[in-house]
Amino acid sequence: MIHTSLSVIRARRDKHARGVGLEGVIVESVAAGSIVDRRSVVSLMSRLRSSRGQSNPYPIYAELRAMGDVVPAPWGGYLLLSHDICDHVLRSKKWSTFDAEWRARQGDVNRWNAPAARQLSQTLQGLNPPVHTMQRRSLGNIFDRFTLDTLEEPVSRIADTLLDRLGEQLRTTKEADFATTVGEEMPAATISHWLRLPESDHDLLKSLTHGQGLAQELLPSKSQLAQANEAAEGLRTYFTEVIRERRQNLGDDVLSDWIRTWDEIEPDRALADETLYHLVMFIVIASMETTSTLLSNMVWLLDQHPGSMGWLRSHPDRIPQAVEEVLRYDPPIHLTTRVATEDTILSGFRISRDEVVHVMLGAANHDPAHHTDPDTFDILRTGSHLGFGGGIHYCIGAALARLEAVVLLKSLVRRFPTLRVTAPPVWEPRVAFRRLTALHVTER
Ligand code: HEM
Repeated sequence: MIHTSLSVIRARRDKHARGVGLEGVIVESVAAGSIVDRRSVVSLMSRLRSSRGQSNPYPIYAELRAMGDVVPAPWGGYLLLSHDICDHVLRSKKWSTFDAEWRARQGDVNRWNAPAARQLSQTLQGLNPPVHTMQRRSLGNIFDRFTLDTLEEPVSRIADTLLDRLGEQLRTTKEADFATTVGEEMPAATISHWLRLPESDHDLLKSLTHGQGLAQELLPSKSQLAQANEAAEGLRTYFTEVIRERRQNLGDDVLSDWIRTWDEIEPDRALADETLYHLVMFIVIASMETTSTLLSNMVWLLDQHPGSMGWLRSHPDRIPQAVEEVLRYDPPIHLTTRVATEDTILSGFRISRDEVVHVMLGAANHDPAHHTDPDTFDILRTGSHLGFGGGIHYCIGAALARLEAVVLLKSLVRRFPTLRVTAPPVWEPRVAFRRLTALHVTER
């Protein structure tokens, strides 16, 4: 393994700017460990994993980035911190997601082969082409213009119902928890409406989703894995039953259409149902944990920038741009992982086939080489970000998440002009899927 010095990495970055690829070039190399103090990385990562670190991870990312755009992780693998390198790895065919074959090659390592982790390896996020391409195509363009137009009315209704509830709580107790009353409920209600899942299942789905999310943590603890495994079992039971029931009552709905499609693709009904279970289960969990963080974080960030909030009240047409800045400034997913499909060189580091890189999306979104004044929250900012990933695994539900956020914010600024946050949000000590568990608000 070869590590480059910081100046060499910077030289490489400059060279890259002049058109040299990120992979396949070593400008110069020096002895392993010469610039990266592994103890500093461990200490920064421990800070990042704490609730305090989660309340503002960006100074920690800046410290990591000061060590280089690619930083060797003390537990193996690498942390990728710059926008360009993260973007490149997400799009390059030299990098794949850690699928079932890769997991099997890791031997009996609990982290990768726990039941919850194995469950994820069969979902879209864990598949590689050609299976990934085929499954993703089977869903069609799920949030095309027509579908989004059709969903706007029910999503607005859901937002208004939840805001009615928020208003009621504010009237009776003067304070309410936005995260639990609205943030977590809205994505559950929206995805359930779209897939026709009963409202009575929302609490179960939320709790199973939180549990399974722990399997996607950077370094899940034993107890987190145990929780994730239990959730994985619950999700299997739940969605197997959903598909069984829907098969018996095929109708004019999205899930019924997918069942019909898969019956044409896959003659073995058991295999078709197994695929459907993974597809539907993952779409539901991917939509809930992420969007709830976006919705609550949006309220928190705008509360911290009252000038922006006031301006949006008189310029509601700019709300979509403000939502985009929330997704850039503090995306719900901060980390995703890829493995090398062949021996390669990334930003001067020699990386062997099957080695892991952690794509630090949150850090990439604050890379000063890509975003001007990255730590400034600017609702009029334009340009691209990695909040929804990139390449073939780019978020399939981005348009729905944006719709929910825009609809909610439009209604919120109109109906609650004096809403204020009373205390900083409570963050779970997680690194990959950020989770905001409480956000207390009042009206002043
Ligand atoms: C603010 C909300 C959301 C954020 C920030 C988000 C973020 C992401 C990111 C970063 C990825 C790529 C992961 C990777 O490359 O490993 C992803 C993939 C995915 N997302 Fe989302 N997501 C959100 C909402 C949704 C919604 C609403 C749905 C479904 C309705 C959804 C379904 C999916 C699926 C199925 C994938 C896997 C796609 C694939 O592997 O081909 N997401 N999402």
